[in-house]
Amino acid sequence: TLTLDFTKPGAAVSPMLYGLMTEEINHSYDGGLYAELIRNRIFKDNPTSPEAWSLVQDNTGSNASIQLMAATQDNVPYDERRHAINEALTTCLRLTVEKADGRVGIANAGYWGIPVKPATTYQASFYLKGGGSVPPPRPRPGQPTPPAKPVIEDNTAGPIQVTIESNDGKTVYATGTVNLEKSIFWKKYQVTLTTGASVKPTKDARFVVSTTRPGLYYFNLVSLFPPTYNNRPNGNRPDLTQMMLDMKPKFLRFPGGNYLEGPLLTDAFPWKTTLGPLESRPGHRGSWGYRASDGMGLLEFLLWCEEIKAEPLLGVYAGYSLQGDHIDAGPLLKPHVEDALNEIEYVMGDASTYWGAKRAADGHPAPFKLRYVEIGNEDWFDRSNSYDGRFNQFREAIEAKYPQLHCISTIADAQFPAQKVTSGKKPELLDEHYYRNAWDMWQNAAQYDAYDRNGPKIFVGEWATREGLPTTNLNAALGDAAWMIGMERNADLVVMSCYAPLFVNVNTATATAPKAWQWDSDLIGYDALTSYGSPSYYVQKMFSEYLGDHIVPTTGASIPLRKRPLTRRDSVEGKTPAPVPALFYAATKNDQTGTVYLKMVNTLGTKQPVDVTLQGLAKVVSSATVVVLKGVKPEDTNSITEPKKIIPTTSKIKRVGPHFTRVLDPYSVTVLQLQTK
Ligand code: AHR
Repeated sequence: TLTLDFTKPGAAVSPMLYGLMTEEINHSYDGGLYAELIRNRIFKDNPTSPEAWSLVQDNTGSNASIQLMAATQDNVPYDERRHAINEALTTCLRLTVEKADGRVGIANAGYWGIPVKPATTYQASFYLKGGGSVPPPRPRPGQPTPPAKPVIEDNTAGPIQVTIESNDGKTVYATGTVNLEKSIFWKKYQVTLTTGASVKPTKDARFVVSTTRPGLYYFNLVSLFPPTYNNRPNGNRPDLTQMMLDMKPKFLRFPGGNYLEGPLLTDAFPWKTTLGPLESRPGHRGSWGYRASDGMGLLEFLLWCEEIKAEPLLGVYAGYSLQGDHIDAGPLLKPHVEDALNEIEYVMGDASTYWGAKRAADGHPAPFKLRYVEIGNEDWFDRSNSYDGRFNQFREAIEAKYPQLHCISTIADAQFPAQKVTSGKKPELLDEHYYRNAWDMWQNAAQYDAYDRNGPKIFVGEWATREGLPTTNLNAALGDAAWMIGMERNADLVVMSCYAPLFVNVNTATATAPKAWQWDSDLIGYDALTSYGSPSYYVQKMFSEYLGDHIVPTTGASIPLRKRPLTRRDSVEGKTPAPVPALFYAATKNDQTGTVYLKMVNTLGTKQPVDVTLQGLAKVVSSATVVVLKGVKPEDTNSITEPKKIIPTTSKIKRVGPHFTRVLDPYSVTVLQLQTK
């Protein structure tokens, strides 16, 4: 039995309650949202081999090879070192063609394939120069004679073919040509490639740049872009952007997560070198075992926020990195504080400021709206307990320059009482992170009911029910929904929250590429060609779309309980776990429209009748809208091959009144929309 009490006004629901969190993990951007199709486009992903690149030789009579040439490696000959374009583009790929028997070239395998779609135009570009080999130096007295090498003549000038083709090279999906000039200088070449209308979609394709003439060919910054969301240059995948838009997130927390911090102090998110033309972005190490191209740079994060109509929530590096190094508060931390102030200025300073002017020069004169800045990430891992001092140094500087900003502490009092910030002003907002299984979510769904209303507000900056991989299953969605109901019922205290991680490239390891993901249990899955939302994704959508502006106090009676299975820990400690509710509920109302949103979760595999009483309501329209997400088994899930197995359905119900009964489906999340005007 549920009673919704309209006689006393409930607390206001934070308008920022539901947002999203993002970072470069699981190939979220490179090989994910960021639409670039060429993997390892500046050849820095692996210093010892040109990862994702291979040699193409159509006929056996050719004699060719490919080789990385890194300007930064002092132990290689000058001739191999002198090909840097600038400080960012220091490694290039050399295609050496001694003899060409037909086509010879370089191929890129993309991020687990190149997506081919019918009637689609791709923008290809690359830096290229040709040359011949330098004769070996003359022997010096007393030095060994250098080995004799055939001198390769420079026949490179002329047409260069650019294709998107099947991996065996037999089918060409799109082709174009550029004309390589006879010049020793780097030049950027560009060409558009368009697929035919009858091409069948596939990701078993590669990108090839080829020649039929001997010589040395040097490549750098090789890029291939398909159409992007709103056709923004250097933009995002339309399907993934649309999925985010559909979640109606109020904010986007970026750039991490661990990705903000980096493994070492030198690996933090380098926002400055992620700005400007791609030519000036060297990329960086990343935090999840692969290099980041930084095509998704600070400005791109902000533009992405604009595209999905979400407010940026900026995480600034706070002098602590993942492998445990930190910089104590004081003079050594000062440059990092300055760096954060500059970063904030880039985001929200007007064009009269130094960094605001840079942003304007980068194409966005208008400042972005910024209200929330998070200082660091998960600083409870810092065993030296230096966060108190670091947080205060950052906070004081940020508040002095930008008093309108809200600074978020990454250490929550309730989670880490021994490490919480105690000196200085009490932090206004505390970030709590919860990664749990469904039982733990159900067990803790009421945790915020008991929080102190006079303390700091809560930002649940990362959370997820971790069941199913690589994307979560229905049971996880039931855990999520119960947890969100707990946040929603306490949406006066929990002012912001965001699920994590958001994205996963679902490819497993192949002969030429490693497994694409590092974190099991993610919200949205994709490969090069298609994407899908997990059941949890649809819960996010339902909760964010159907939300009132204040809480309707709701009480339940006769709520069925579930016996929680013993965990290994329970057995060791000889404990009997407490039973958990099997049904969860919360209601909110939009005062303007008069719509009441009653959310209910049934975690049982049987139907549950719920008697609803609307107490103190002057009017309720007898027909209501009901949205239900359900499945047959808790393990049910969505995937690339079955993207819509578990999705919400919407229907109308009649005979709604001050008292009515709704039978909840087994394993279901229900949103009832009642009209009261
Ligand atoms: O969301 C995955 C990781 O979990 C985040 O990078 C980190 O902040 C947390 O530990």
